[in-house]
Amino acid sequence: MSRIPPACTNGSDANYWQQGPAPSEHSLERGYADHLERSKRGSESNEDFFEGKREWSKIKDEVLANYMKPYLAKVNKRGQSILLIDGYAGPGVFEDGSHGSPLIMCEKAEEWAKGNYHAIFINNERKYYDKLSREIQRKGWSKVAEARLGDTQRVLPEIFKTLKDQTVFLYLDPFGPTGCNFDLLAPFLNRNPSYSTEILLTMNMPGVHRLAARHVDEAGRVDEEKIRNYRLMLTRTFGGDYWQDILRQDAETAERDIQLIEAYQKKLTHYFPYTRSCPVRSGTGKRIKYFIVFASRHRAALVLLNDIMVNAYFAGMHQADLAGGLWEEMDWREMRSISGLDHIILDTITKHPRQTRNFIWLRIVEQHFMRYLKSEYIATVKQLVQNRKLAYTSKTKWLNDDSILYLYHS
Ligand SMILES: C[S@@+](CC[C@H](N)C(=O)[O-])C[C@H]1O[C@@H](n2cnc3c(N)ncnc32)[C@H](O)[C@@H]1O
Repeated sequence: MSRIPPACTNGSDANYWQQGPAPSEHSLERGYADHLERSKRGSESNEDFFEGKREWSKIKDEVLANYMKPYLAKVNKRGQSILLIDGYAGPGVFEDGSHGSPLIMCEKAEEWAKGNYHAIFINNERKYYDKLSREIQRKGWSKVAEARLGDTQRVLPEIFKTLKDQTVFLYLDPFGPTGCNFDLLAPFLNRNPSYSTEILLTMNMPGVHRLAARHVDEAGRVDEEKIRNYRLMLTRTFGGDYWQDILRQDAETAERDIQLIEAYQKKLTHYFPYTRSCPVRSGTGKRIKYFIVFASRHRAALVLLNDIMVNAYFAGMHQADLAGGLWEEMDWREMRSISGLDHIILDTITKHPRQTRNFIWLRIVEQHFMRYLKSEYIATVKQLVQNRKLAYTSKTKWLNDDSILYLYHS
């Protein structure tokens, strides 16, 4: 992820730890949301959140919407019915009229898997449950989509028990990191691999830092039980205490964030081989607000999400950085640098000679996720052929995904 712009400083919230009893285990997510409401900066409460979509929230919605289409079109051919689960659904419609994740998921499913899907949307707040139920009814989706009222930490394991052979897509977008508790994911990660299961989640990074409470140690003020509880919550979230060494390093916040999410991805890879993430910031050089993490058994997910995440991230950053300025109208694609791609292509072909253009692209995405777009790769391969660095053979004479690539002088 070397193209990701560096974040600025860390911003511990010194007032954060001052009051209130340690949260009990079963009120983790609610307790966490309450903390966020009390917290003075960098966070949103339910009320703020659903007023209108912030730029950084649009990035996850765009990733979700743009992935749903090819994902649903593909899994709809498998024959099994599809179950879409949104664990932290919200009301469906923001106060400014924009659509939230449950509506995005249903709209795409109506288009790409009509008649073959069921959707479950969980909310622990009655007003969002009511509002979403009304939206579902208004759209005429009552037979295929249902809102459920309850705590996701309890409702999701119940849903898991009812699963048969459905193709499952699980989306988790809680306010804080504890909403993605590893134990909550584990049954889905351990599900029989003959059934298709994919997970897309958001990991809130300021929340991770608050729970880690690094500066509490530094200041020598340790309210032991409370801090121990917060840290336990983090260990449960990441499925291990590997976060401690990473977050305690003397390094930039963004660097530690990226190392932590990579370690988390590595853990997820034990279950699902294709696991990557996209950072989301409120602007270039700002702190990472959250990562969008996906986990899949299918390589196709990796390839699709590479382009989807590059598009969402760079378009979002362009908008955040340049809105209202001279460069706003400029297409962000024209401002991208793809330096280094030619060398990466040549190196990859040296390692994998006489493979197809598509095969080489898969290797590049695996090694350099979110660095290049497929269109940039195709254009660079063409240029390397024109410059006699690469040659190809093809059944159709034209250079395409099935063309076999090799070094010109080999
Ligand atoms: C970040 S918002 C999700 C926004 C949603 N993805 C959208 O696009 O509109 C998190 C939602 O989860 C709900 N929530 C928080 N804790 C929960 C829990 N333990 N169980 C179920 N829902 C919860 C909150 O009320 C809020 O509506």
